[in-house]
Amino acid sequence: MDRARVAVIGAGWWATQFHLPSLLSYPAAEVVAVVDTNPAKLKAVKEHFGLDNLFADHREMLRKVKPDGVIVALPHAFHYSVGRDVLDAGVNLMMEKPFTLKSHDAWDLVRRARERDLILTVGYPWNHTSHAHSAREAVRAGSIGEIQMVSCLFASMVIEYLRGNPEAYRSSFEFPVTGPGEQTYSDPAIAGGGQGHLQVTHLAGLMLWVTGLRPAEVFAFMEKYGLQVDLVDAIAVRFDNGAVGALASDGAIAPGQRQDHEIRIYGSAGSIILTPIPGELSIHLADGEVRNFPALDSAESYPESATSRNLVDMITRGVGTPAPGELGAVAVDLLDAAYRSAETGQKVLVSRHDMPAPVL
Ligand SMILES: NC(=O)c1ccc[n+]([C@@H]2O[C@H](COP(=O)([O-])OP(=O)(O)OC[C@H]3O[C@@H](n4cnc5c(N)ncnc54)[C@H](O)[C@@H]3O)[C@@H](O)[C@H]2O)c1
Repeated sequence: MDRARVAVIGAGWWATQFHLPSLLSYPAAEVVAVVDTNPAKLKAVKEHFGLDNLFADHREMLRKVKPDGVIVALPHAFHYSVGRDVLDAGVNLMMEKPFTLKSHDAWDLVRRARERDLILTVGYPWNHTSHAHSAREAVRAGSIGEIQMVSCLFASMVIEYLRGNPEAYRSSFEFPVTGPGEQTYSDPAIAGGGQGHLQVTHLAGLMLWVTGLRPAEVFAFMEKYGLQVDLVDAIAVRFDNGAVGALASDGAIAPGQRQDHEIRIYGSAGSIILTPIPGELSIHLADGEVRNFPALDSAESYPESATSRNLVDMITRGVGTPAPGELGAVAVDLLDAAYRSAETGQKVLVSRHDMPAPVL
């Protein structure tokens, strides 16, 4: 297939700032429909991109357009039900992060995709970097031995989103077409949660892809600091292989203040320090050898367009993905357990859903 006919469901901030421009400028892609329940968003898409195959209902679009692939860029609470409809229509799917809010829903999407032999991938831009690839290769080659501990940190500027005041970031993010809805990240009924589903999912998706670890038990503290959703999270994990790890995240970084995103992986024969912000990777072996990789600039270290184009390349050229549905589901396993732990104050065993262990 030379060109993939792709539809986008959800014409909000992320789809209009990144997915639509990256698809419209990619020769292997044809944007065949855009769906949004809000007529004002469809009007903006028509005016800004000149697109006119616009729908208010994703089921009608799936029936009439029969795209090769769909990108779902909706508020988190709608990911599962709309993703299920896409897969049940026999259409390949790229789901934005977090894949779903609940573990059983995530594995249900994986099962539906497997049964129909459909592509299922998740919108994790950092997994598409050369550094993620090199770090994963080093782990798989056994360079650092058996992984014993991981330490992950993400401190980012999202508090105004979590507060329901996205306009506060207009000067930082520009919003060429639209900013996020006020409730998208602030209302627990729609967002599911805050910093965990918004940002820790990135950290988990990258760490789990690089290491191939699978969480077995989780204990978490989360604090809201007056918001309706979590602003800071501290999550302790024990993995299937006995390794332990910690994921910490804070969404309260101010414009102009330093953000941090780092994953440190310690094995029996060395360690890997992967810092997507500021875009560095080094490997430190037990014999003293240090491998420093060339630094990535911000466009290389956070390739926002890579996720939608990967879906197109998977459809047209059969390439693989560094963010398969199984990875999304394992990240949801970790976060679902973390939210339940924070709520109950108890350690939570990660659910297993009669699915074979994913090959990550
Ligand atoms: N990968 C990344 O780095 C990254 C960055 C930002 C956002 N995202 C993700 O993208 C997704 C969308 O976020 P956003 O900031 O664009 O949100 P948004 O609020 O700007 O957009 C969501 C859109 O969905 C529409 N909508 C809601 N329910 C619908 C339905 N049932 N059918 C059709 N349209 C519906 C809304 O009208 C809105 O236009 C989220 O999952 C978010 O986490 C990913």
